[in-house]
Amino acid sequence: MEACEFSPLDEGLLAKVGRLRIEAWETKTARAAEQSDWVDEFDRVALHWVVCRDGLPVAAARLSLHHELAEVPDSECYAGIFSWPLETPIASLNRLVVHPSARGSGLGRRLDLIRLEAAERLGARVVILSTSSGHRRIAALVSLGFVFLGYGRKFKRPPLCYMPAPAIFFCQLPRVGPIGQPFVRRS
Ligand SMILES: CC(C)(COP(=O)(O)OP(=O)(O)OC[C@H]1O[C@@H](n2cnc3c(N)ncnc32)[C@H](O)[C@@H]1OP(=O)(O)O)[C@@H](O)C(=O)NCCC(=O)NCCS
Repeated sequence: MEACEFSPLDEGLLAKVGRLRIEAWETKTARAAEQSDWVDEFDRVALHWVVCRDGLPVAAARLSLHHELAEVPDSECYAGIFSWPLETPIASLNRLVVHPSARGSGLGRRLDLIRLEAAERLGARVVILSTSSGHRRIAALVSLGFVFLGYGRKFKRPPLCYMPAPAIFFCQLPRVGPIGQPFVRRS
């Protein structure tokens, strides 16, 4: 299955991705459907990738670029985490979801790598990410070379606000070394 970039102007596909977000998070929290509309204001300006099976999305993720930390999705999580001014543009990786029936075959990792490559190509200086998905997701991010910075403030929006405080990750760009290898932070 191939990952394709798609435009948020494709409202039909974006709505299907919104439903996939609920289905994916239902395995983590019983309150996934509480935020009935998982499509938010960041979707209109973000870059999106999707993997489809039989015409329906089974994996999706987005990347957004920002000039201020306060502008990133779920910015509340990052308050007080960075003790240094982040170089800009800042790339935020967010809304990664894989349908339960498509998990364990590398789609999540592939979408992480695609977004890292895109962030680098677009000139982002740092990539940041927050996750409440637990230790397996944390291990996956560390294996990609992300630096774990600690735990941030809880998400504000339902249903993620019912999840534990998120782990916060950071990566300096451009990366040193081949894709998929640990990143080296420049001094
Ligand atoms: C987390 C998630 C995207 C993983 O998708 P996936 O396609 O199964 O992942 P991959 O097959 O590429 O596996 C990559 C790594 O993801 C991690 N992972 C796998 N299943 C996971 C799960 N249910 N929860 C958290 N992390 C998981 C593992 O560390 C895995 O590496 P491993 O196989 O060496 O243990 C998917 O389980 C999901 O959509 N979960 C609900 C939403 C979510 O947590 N999104 C991530 C927000 S940051």
